[in-house]
Amino acid sequence: MANKILKNKKVKHGFIDAVVGLQWGDEGKGKNIDELLSSGKYSAVARFHGGANAGHTIKFGDKTFIGHIVPSGCLRKKIELYIGNGVVVDAVSLIAEISQLKNLGFDVAPRLFISNRAKLVSYFHPFLDQADEYRRNKSGTKIGTTSRGIGPAYSDARARRGLLVGDMLLPDFEQRESALSEFHTNLLSMYKEKYGFEIDYGKIKEAKEKWQNALKELKKLQICDLSSLIQKRLAEGKNILAEGAQAIMLDIDFGDYPNVTSSNTLPANVCLGLGVSHKYLRDVYGVIKAYTTKVGGGNFPARIADPAIEKLFQDAGNEFGATTGRPRMCGWLDLFALRYAIGLSGANKIFINKADICMSDKIKVVTGYKCNGKIGKEFPLYLSQVSSVVTEEIPGWGKTNFGVNDKKKISKELASYLKYIKTKLSDLDVKIISVGTGPDRNHFFNWEK
Ligand code: GDP
Ligand code: IMO
Ligand code: MG
Repeated sequence: MANKILKNKKVKHGFIDAVVGLQWGDEGKGKNIDELLSSGKYSAVARFHGGANAGHTIKFGDKTFIGHIVPSGCLRKKIELYIGNGVVVDAVSLIAEISQLKNLGFDVAPRLFISNRAKLVSYFHPFLDQADEYRRNKSGTKIGTTSRGIGPAYSDARARRGLLVGDMLLPDFEQRESALSEFHTNLLSMYKEKYGFEIDYGKIKEAKEKWQNALKELKKLQICDLSSLIQKRLAEGKNILAEGAQAIMLDIDFGDYPNVTSSNTLPANVCLGLGVSHKYLRDVYGVIKAYTTKVGGGNFPARIADPAIEKLFQDAGNEFGATTGRPRMCGWLDLFALRYAIGLSGANKIFINKADICMSDKIKVVTGYKCNGKIGKEFPLYLSQVSSVVTEEIPGWGKTNFGVNDKKKISKELASYLKYIKTKLSDLDVKIISVGTGPDRNHFFNWEK
């Protein structure tokens, strides 16, 4: 009888919330995902796009973990981890991270599920990535990619010659893999002949060996029809957090093309990158820093003009890439770009990080872009069209707020900065829910409830 009642009881289906960066990356998404998981509301974290180009840092106690491809729920032992069909899977990075996590005391393999429809990054892709950057560099149009083979992996997927994770389990995999490798060899030769790109065959051989070993390990993991699994979990009433790998301003369609990544970073892509209906999407958490950083090529209108001040932010904020170690350019908070990113993403809850870093007595905020001498209402097609920016100046607060986790204890300058941002976004229906004051799990305070 009890069983019958249980069977007939209709379970309310779960929902999917998304966390996305609203600037050019490295906003602190990893930390905020970890923070959101402490509520116990979510049963899984899912990556829906991108690959090992991401670098998401989570600090806990004296330990630090930087996830490139493993979802940021890895340090919460009850959280399932999903890698969706929209992801380009770098097997070598994935296997290395799993073993790194094991050494930290987290055995993630039993709770990691990978879509059989996710795309494999081949050992050739990083070389092709470098070769194309070499070609671009000749005309001064280098993108400054992470060299992780992201562009070539997505290109192969779109050209319908790529390999899927599930292909590894099929009998003709070897054949298909060598056909693709032959194609890549020819492509690389073209880069050598036409553009003079030096090919290091020894390095390619080494990469192939590493890749093949990683595939053997990858095969042992839980490769499945992830879309079905997610639908099952939602039907069981479980909630999922979708993790944006790259930020909105790097979206291939809406960023500053071609200085973008090769996937759609908007939450709209959660549905396609996981294989779920839009009806499950609920809140979008948008993450920003109190200032802005950018790594790679392309224009950056909000960049701090005084290199000495930029350096102060770079050093104090430890602004060096979590994936490549490259220094990040630093800029003022760009409200014009932020409003564009909020519009595109539908972010309704905002995390602001690095409020402990404010290395100037007076800080600027970008409120508009001038193109051809005119303040534009719409975001320009190319950032190279921006001739200057419109700014407002407000008082800074140095490093006085480091580690503060009580709203009442923050400096009056930070409090007025937060109110200023809130006012500037008041027509967009967003809440600033949490403000970060340091890299650790407990370095934040709740601002609006
Ligand atoms: P993600 O790619 O968005 O996850 O961000 P990254 O991990 O690449 O970069 C964010 C960096 O800022 C990491 O080193 C974090 O530990 C650090 N961080 C995050 N939030 C804060 C904060 O509020 N204050 C300070 N000082 N550091 C922070
Ligand atoms: P997280 O997840 C910052 C940038 C690269 C380059 C462009 C294209 O840590 O925020 P790609 O390798 O994707 O083809 O490079 O995108 N980029 C990032 N910048 N943070 C990231 O990830 C990035 N992932 C890619 O610097 O300009
Ligand atoms: Mg990062």
